[in-house]
Amino acid sequence: AKQPYEHILVSRPAHGVGLITLNRPKALNALNSPLFEELNKAAEELDNDHSIGALVLTGSDRAFAAGADIKEMKDKTYSDVFGNRFLESWTKIQNLRKPIIAAVSGYALGGGCELALMCDIILASPTATFGQPEINLGVIPGGGGTQRLIRSIGKSRTMELVLTGRNFSAVEAESWGIVSKVVGEGEGQVVKEAVQLAEKIAGKGRLAVQAGKEAVNAAYELTLAEGLNFERRLFHGLFATHDQKEGMSAFAEKRKAKFTHS
Ligand code: HXC
Repeated sequence: AKQPYEHILVSRPAHGVGLITLNRPKALNALNSPLFEELNKAAEELDNDHSIGALVLTGSDRAFAAGADIKEMKDKTYSDVFGNRFLESWTKIQNLRKPIIAAVSGYALGGGCELALMCDIILASPTATFGQPEINLGVIPGGGGTQRLIRSIGKSRTMELVLTGRNFSAVEAESWGIVSKVVGEGEGQVVKEAVQLAEKIAGKGRLAVQAGKEAVNAAYELTLAEGLNFERRLFHGLFATHDQKEGMSAFAEKRKAKFTHS
């Protein structure tokens, strides 16, 4: 079918799964405003689509994304970036209700690394190279890098990465807990595994998945006592759903649950 987008590709590679592929190969998927407009639109459409249960975001074998488009940024002035709220609309991915898995191969630098960090789960190919090199351009991360890294890998490592701009490998990212798994070698392998993972999640009850994602994300914002209370309230709330009755009856009757997402 004809693609409605110029900078991304959208497909449905498995039951319940929407796949968004960044597609500016000549610029190593450098992120610019038109690309983000398309990405946000496609992600919102998939998020609102009842036949979709989980999303995968990927780039090419060579680059997930090599950062914000430096050529687009270089001549911008303070009044341009402040006045037009540059980057504010680049973080919409974090507000999706459905899970989104980043399948990272090759470069995930600067805004590319931050885009992956905005996703719920990151799978990486052994070739994946992460980094926040903004310091080398006379700036700092602007898409959440400093804030999200410190919450997952601690101050000392975050400072080192942000202040030196050095790259880090898939294996380092996995050992620090940024990446849930480094997949086997081979072109396309990381996307294949991410789609399988998304399909597995899409087979669960959507309301429970949405609640699980909300509860985990709440931990970033709440104290432990508030977070535990929020979690328990969401747990209570799920007893109002058919999927809870179905899931627990199916267990008792020794059969597979048939979730209706209601
Ligand atoms: C614009 C980029 C780009 C970028 C690569 N290209 N990264 N264009 N913005 N971020 C372009 C190159 O200019 C080149 O175009 C083509 O892609 C291929 O890149 P090469 O450099 O020739 O490839 P290679 O030698 O393999 O080096 C790959 C690389 C290098 C190590 C990834 O391209 C690189 O260092 N890129 C910049 C990485 C970076 O600093 N990212 C952070 C950006 S700041 P031509 O036309 O010459 O063929 C940022 C701020 C975040 O992200 C803000 C919040 C979201």
